[in-house]
Amino acid sequence: MAANGEKAPRAKVTVPTLLQAKHEGRRIAMITAYDATFAAIADDAGVDVLLVGDSVATVMQGERTTLPVSLDEMAYHTRIVAAARPKALIVGDLPFGSYQQGPTVGIESSVCLIKAGAECVKLEGGVTVAHIIEAISATDIPVMGHIGLTPQSYHRMGGNKIQGRQQGDQAGQRDRLLQDAHAVEQAGACAVVIEGVPADLASEITDKLSIPTIGIGAGPSCDGQVLVLHDVLGLSRRKLSFAKPYADLLTVSTNAIATYVEDVRNRTWPDAEHSFS
Ligand code: KIV
Repeated sequence: MAANGEKAPRAKVTVPTLLQAKHEGRRIAMITAYDATFAAIADDAGVDVLLVGDSVATVMQGERTTLPVSLDEMAYHTRIVAAARPKALIVGDLPFGSYQQGPTVGIESSVCLIKAGAECVKLEGGVTVAHIIEAISATDIPVMGHIGLTPQSYHRMGGNKIQGRQQGDQAGQRDRLLQDAHAVEQAGACAVVIEGVPADLASEITDKLSIPTIGIGAGPSCDGQVLVLHDVLGLSRRKLSFAKPYADLLTVSTNAIATYVEDVRNRTWPDAEHSFS
């Protein structure tokens, strides 16, 4: 609170803020955003991190997986989130096919998202992409890792399946996920998303890493949590066991539009108050 009794303006969240949060035991709240309107709403609500996720493909574009979204489309959504000038850190998701080719392509794609307004980029994978994380980080572009259920590995996983339930060091198995977590940290990532793994595994990784872990479907022990905006607002038709709708905007929106349609058909809209003389 400022001396005049007003709420003090929020400080800009930066990459060092995230590391500090882990060291001070402060939880990090992250949510996806895809446009300026909702970025401003989430920012006013106090989130620490806005993720311009490649989930835009399924949430906004109606695709079945995240695979089709292009780098140009991700840059567009990053630009319109950044237009809200949020205090929250803006993380731009590198889409499928924009870094898997190797470090040079990964750096070029990261530069594209940073120019669009991202302050950090995120990419999926562990051991196999560590050299790409290292190369991007070496150009002073902060990188957030993403391990566990990585939706860009949809075909390898045989769908969006919980990972790390089986012992072993094959892709998606428990020991390998521990190796992935260490590889991502050693490569220079500033934080790592852990998605769709048993809570005890996420807890073990969180204890072992010095960078913040941000969980989704990974239990309560991570240093932060992330959810998809439309799931939090209850705007999604999909029901996910790990996501909690904090509102029912699907019903609210449908009812509002149905009332508008009725008013138009009944000729009760527009009324005199909303007409020009
Ligand atoms: O694209 C996305 O929304 C994500 C989160 C689920 C972490 O990567």
